[in-house]
Amino acid sequence: MTPYQAIISKRDTRSFDGRPIPDDVLQRILQAGRMAGSAKALEPARFVVIRDQVQKEALAKCGNFTPHLPTAAAAVAIVLEPEMGVVGAPLTYFRGPFDAGRAAQNMMLAAWAEGVASCPASMHQAEEAARVLRLPEGYTVANTIAFGYPAGEDPARQQRPRKSLDQYVHWEHWGG
Ligand SMILES: Cc1cc2nc3c(=O)[nH]c(=O)nc-3n(C[C@H](O)[C@H](O)[C@H](O)COP(=O)(O)O)c2cc1C
Repeated sequence: MTPYQAIISKRDTRSFDGRPIPDDVLQRILQAGRMAGSAKALEPARFVVIRDQVQKEALAKCGNFTPHLPTAAAAVAIVLEPEMGVVGAPLTYFRGPFDAGRAAQNMMLAAWAEGVASCPASMHQAEEAARVLRLPEGYTVANTIAFGYPAGEDPARQQRPRKSLDQYVHWEHWGG
């Protein structure tokens, strides 16, 4: 699978077949997340890997749309360091969320290239998620990604077309 094929064919998957993810595959997924660039190369993202069933279920209770999380072989919570760790001022407008998104997509695409499907599971109750993960003071969960081998074809995939490229793209200026 070329990188382009992985990007184009990857769709979020919420049903997994229960097979564990081999350690070497999981290592490559995590390496892909680690290698994402970050604003000012500050590397504010950290990953908490959750394979324990009790822990997965506890985390699922911290989000509003998370039924896929307990059935995943592994979940990776993307954690951000406290914003005020930077000298000067909070840099939220360009820093943490964008960096976390880059790490997340790197991991999801690296996983998909090896046949491992995934879907985000947002932590709407972020403070409770931080407690479940035992994060140090000030650390926050940007999102959690559920990973696992897909349980057959997901019929919902065909029902989620994207907007046309024309709707996405403007050339030189808005409307161009
Ligand atoms: C920031 C973000 C948060 C998301 N949170 C959830 C979630 O909590 N639960 C869920 O089932 N899907 C979640 N998703 C998945 C989206 O619903 C998904 O990307 C959308 O359905 C498109 O899926 P597709 O790529 O398979 O077409 C999230 C996606 C993003 C980008």
